[in-house]
Amino acid sequence: MKNLCILGIETSCDETAVAVYQERKGLLSHILHTQSKLHADYGGVVPELASRDHIQNLAPLVHAAIKQAGLELSDLTGIAYTQGPGLVGALMVGTVFARSLGYALSIPTIGIHHLEAHLLAPMLENNPPEFPFIALLVSGGHTLLIKVEELGHYQMLGETLDDAAGEALDKTAKLLGLGYPGGAKLEVLAKTGNPNRFKFPRPMVKNPQDLNFSFSGLKTLAMTTLRSEGSELQTKADLAYAFQEAIMDTLVIKSSRAIKKTQIESLVVAGGVSANQTLREKLKSASKELGIRVFFPRHEFCTDNAAMIAYTGCLYLSQKKYSDQNLEVEVYPRWKLSAKD
Ligand code: KG4
Ligand code: ZN
Repeated sequence: MKNLCILGIETSCDETAVAVYQERKGLLSHILHTQSKLHADYGGVVPELASRDHIQNLAPLVHAAIKQAGLELSDLTGIAYTQGPGLVGALMVGTVFARSLGYALSIPTIGIHHLEAHLLAPMLENNPPEFPFIALLVSGGHTLLIKVEELGHYQMLGETLDDAAGEALDKTAKLLGLGYPGGAKLEVLAKTGNPNRFKFPRPMVKNPQDLNFSFSGLKTLAMTTLRSEGSELQTKADLAYAFQEAIMDTLVIKSSRAIKKTQIESLVVAGGVSANQTLREKLKSASKELGIRVFFPRHEFCTDNAAMIAYTGCLYLSQKKYSDQNLEVEVYPRWKLSAKD
C-alpha cells in the first residue's frame, strides 16, 4: 500500500500554517505565517482581517511547504484541515482550499478538531506518550483536563468556568501594557518580579474533587492591585510574577488531582500556555513526586501550527476514517471535543 503523505492546513484563528507529514519518515516540512502584527493595534484578532490574510497567504505557503518537503503536489495522498473550533471565516478559507485541492487531485480530505490536534502534538516528538493519558490543554480559548483513552475518545474531567488560562494571561498582560497576545511577554516580565511582594490565591482548590478552573477573579485582583499600588515597572513585574504563579500553581494542583483520581501515569500538556517555562518546571517536579511521566510539544508546536493537523489527519486516514464523503463544505466554529466520541 502507498505510504501516506498528508498535507496539513491550519487557519482557525490568526496563524496561516501548512505542513507535510509522511507516515514513515515523519514531518517533512512545516511553515507558519503569523498575523499578530496585523491585529496588534486592535488589541485582539479582527475576524474579517484574519480571513483576508489567510486567503492571501495560503496558496503560496502550500507551494512552499511542498517544495521544502522535496515533493510534488501529485505525491500527496490526503489533505487534513482544521474544521473547527475557531473563527468561521478563517475556518472557511482553509476548508474550501483543502476540499478543492483534494477534489482536483482526487485524494481524500479530512476535517480535524483543532483541540484534538493540540493534545496529540506531543506525539510528534521522540519518545512520544502512549494511550491512555491525561491531557491538560491550555490555550487562549480553552483550559481543559481530559482523559484520553485512545484516538477519538475524550472524556472531559474539568474545564474553566470563565476565562481560559491564556485569556486571563492575555488580559492581564494588556493591563500591564504588554500588548496582545501577551502570555509570553508576561512570562519575561515576571522573571524580574519580586517573589515576596504579592501573594495571589489559587482559585477553586478547596474541594478536592473539583477539577474545574476559574481565573476571572485573579484577573480582577490584578486590576485592583495595579490601581492601588501604582504602575511603576517594578510593581508591574511583581504583579506579573504573582499572577503567573497563581495560574500555573492552580493548573498543577488540578492536573495532579486528575492523575490521582484516574490512576493514569502519563500527563500530556499542550496548547499555547504549555510553552510557559514556569508551568513546565512546576509540572516536571510534580510528576517526579507522583511517579508519572509528563510530555510537552516542542515550543513551536505548543501554539497553533499545521504539523499537528497533518499528523492527526495521518492517524485517521491510516485507519481509513474519512470525514468528507460528499462535496458539501462545512465548518464548526463551536465544536465540543467530547462530541467526537
Ligand atoms: O494554542 P494557541 O496558540 O491558540 C489558541 O488556540 O488559543 O494559544 C495562544 C495562547 C495565548 O493566550 C498566549 O498568550 C498563550 O497561549 N501563550 C503563553 C506563552 N506563549 C503563548 N502563555 C504563557 N506563557 C507563554 N510562554
Ligand atoms: Zn490553538
